[in-house]
Amino acid sequence: MARTRVAVLLSGRGTNLQSLIDAHQDDYEIVLVASNIVDAPGLGIAKAAGIATFAQSHKALDRAAFDTLIDGQLRAHGVEAIALAGYMRILSDGFVAGWAGRMVNIHPSLLPLYKGLDTHARAIEAGDAQAGCSIHIVTAGLDDGPVIARASVPIMPWDTPDTLAARVLIEEHRLYPRALAQWVRTLGA
Ligand code: GRF
Repeated sequence: MARTRVAVLLSGRGTNLQSLIDAHQDDYEIVLVASNIVDAPGLGIAKAAGIATFAQSHKALDRAAFDTLIDGQLRAHGVEAIALAGYMRILSDGFVAGWAGRMVNIHPSLLPLYKGLDTHARAIEAGDAQAGCSIHIVTAGLDDGPVIARASVPIMPWDTPDTLAARVLIEEHRLYPRALAQWVRTLGA
């Protein structure tokens, strides 16, 4: 069966992109990496791997117009599914609707806990015994769609948000390639 053509959207360093590239990719093929930050380090990771990139600052456009631009790039590359990996933009309702059921995100918490930012600090503050990461289908609500995979780590008494983030990130890199591969197998043509 043909591999699913996947685009990765990111705004930052791209370590999750790297993990998706390093995996076997028997089930998916990353055909485009797009970013709203023109100098995002993740774009360099894509280029080094020979993957097409698209970068455009969102600042000159309103949200819907920017998302239409990204959507055009995705369609032009024959993208069938989207993996968000540190994409720090709220998506317009129209974009989310256009990719309904075909877009996943990685979030650094055990969803439904701690949607939004500062997840690790909030988990420590709450006195939780565990933290982790989740892969979920993207719907209109922020970090709100159905969870398809999760991994957890213990929170140590001495953890700071940074030490906890580093422990969770290791699990993110294990989880995302596996979850993406499983998920794309469930998609119709
Ligand atoms: C990750 O922690 C991911 O869970 C969150 O943003 C971060 C992206 O990191 N959504 P990277 O750019 O993949 O290194």
